[in-house]
Amino acid sequence: MANNKTGFTSSFGVVMAAAGSAVGLGNIWRFPYICGQYGGAACLFVYLLFVFLIGMVLLMTEFVIGRRSGFAAEKAFPALYPKRPSWKIVGLFGMFTCFLILSIYLVISGWTVGYFWDSVTGKLASIEDGAFDEYFVQFSTSVWKPVVFLVIFLVLTLIVVLGGVQKGIEQVSKLLMPFLLVLVIVLCVRALTLPGASKGIEYLFNPDFSKLTWEGILAILGQALFSLSVGMGAMIVYGSYIPRDNNILKNAAWITVCDVLIAVLAGVAIFPAVFAAGQSPAGGPSLVYEVLPIVFNSMGTIGIVFAAVFFLLLSLAALTSAISLLETLTAWLHDRGMKRSVAAVLISAIELVLAVVVAYAYKREGFDGGILSGFTPGGRDLFDWVDKLTGSYLPPIGALFTVIFFGWVMKKEDIYDELSNHGVLKISWFKVFYHFLVRFVAPVALLISLVAGIFAK
Ligand code: PHE
Repeated sequence: MANNKTGFTSSFGVVMAAAGSAVGLGNIWRFPYICGQYGGAACLFVYLLFVFLIGMVLLMTEFVIGRRSGFAAEKAFPALYPKRPSWKIVGLFGMFTCFLILSIYLVISGWTVGYFWDSVTGKLASIEDGAFDEYFVQFSTSVWKPVVFLVIFLVLTLIVVLGGVQKGIEQVSKLLMPFLLVLVIVLCVRALTLPGASKGIEYLFNPDFSKLTWEGILAILGQALFSLSVGMGAMIVYGSYIPRDNNILKNAAWITVCDVLIAVLAGVAIFPAVFAAGQSPAGGPSLVYEVLPIVFNSMGTIGIVFAAVFFLLLSLAALTSAISLLETLTAWLHDRGMKRSVAAVLISAIELVLAVVVAYAYKREGFDGGILSGFTPGGRDLFDWVDKLTGSYLPPIGALFTVIFFGWVMKKEDIYDELSNHGVLKISWFKVFYHFLVRFVAPVALLISLVAGIFAK
């Protein structure tokens, strides 16, 4: 099939861009506390299984679908199986998921940019230890602050996407990803050399299988997929930009390793510091916006630098992920005949409205919420809804149908041809990959975790 789009220029570019998509708020903000909540090393063990057996398989699946068809998600499925164009529904479902993810992503990234600003200006350092929860609530529920910062973040994202696949996305990722690794290592070294750091390592790595509930397993699976950006068509788009002679297995393996590495390093940077400062680890936004500032303040003046480094790290990680979400939606409309620049601006405008609604719906437990937080259909505010749907439910559903399409609908010969680069590469692992992982392990594990996670509370 013809693939005449501008794509990435090299394997390195592919890995950096896709790792840029994968490494994001999910790694630094969500993974550490999921790990703490669901049994430390027990969670890590299940996470690694999911990431390598299901996540990476899906990554390869989406890359193949993208590169083979040359399209974004909606057109990719029918292009590979023209007999049943209705498979495009899976692609559209993915676009819906991306829409929601980007909206909440913009909100949290906005907070992060705001905190970066507050740490650089010294504002964070001037707050008393006991007052960070109030400060965060004031910040996140104010009418203009979250909006200003999310607009700044959205504009940056848009600029990169308008820069194009090579000169925008690939260049920025090649620059930012190595920088990100350096930043997270700096934070790790600092955290590990604090007195009392070992307690944090224990919290993160001590296996406690009794905390592994079914709900936890679904959350871990959701996290594994969310973290690799699979199950919503984003990697189909990046797949369509992979050069023909690139080794898809190798790319996927590198991306997966980078993603896991940064998630684990983020945990190593965060928990030892939290315990060393005598704080207890909290879940959700509190950890990053209320507990960590206390930790930074306890380090004295140098804490200001570490606070700035941390919030910069989080903002940049979020930026490369938001870029991939905006690109996914832009490429989708571009496939439908819209000019790229018009599509990118249009999507950004819609996301802006959506993000403001989500931002205003946020409510920190025990405090007054934003102006839309009183709207709680089904007992949850809209922020919670979007968080839960995008974190636990939608990616596994998208992933399940994608892998069923790949394993049971698409032609096996096409898959072999694509993974072996038309017979150039020896892929002796193909049988195990296709007959075992793609056709059985992934769909069965996805189905069980989904059903059990939804019903067995
Ligand atoms: N993988 C990103 C993270 O962990 C989230 C993301 C999902 C980005 C889907 C792009 C597409 O934060």
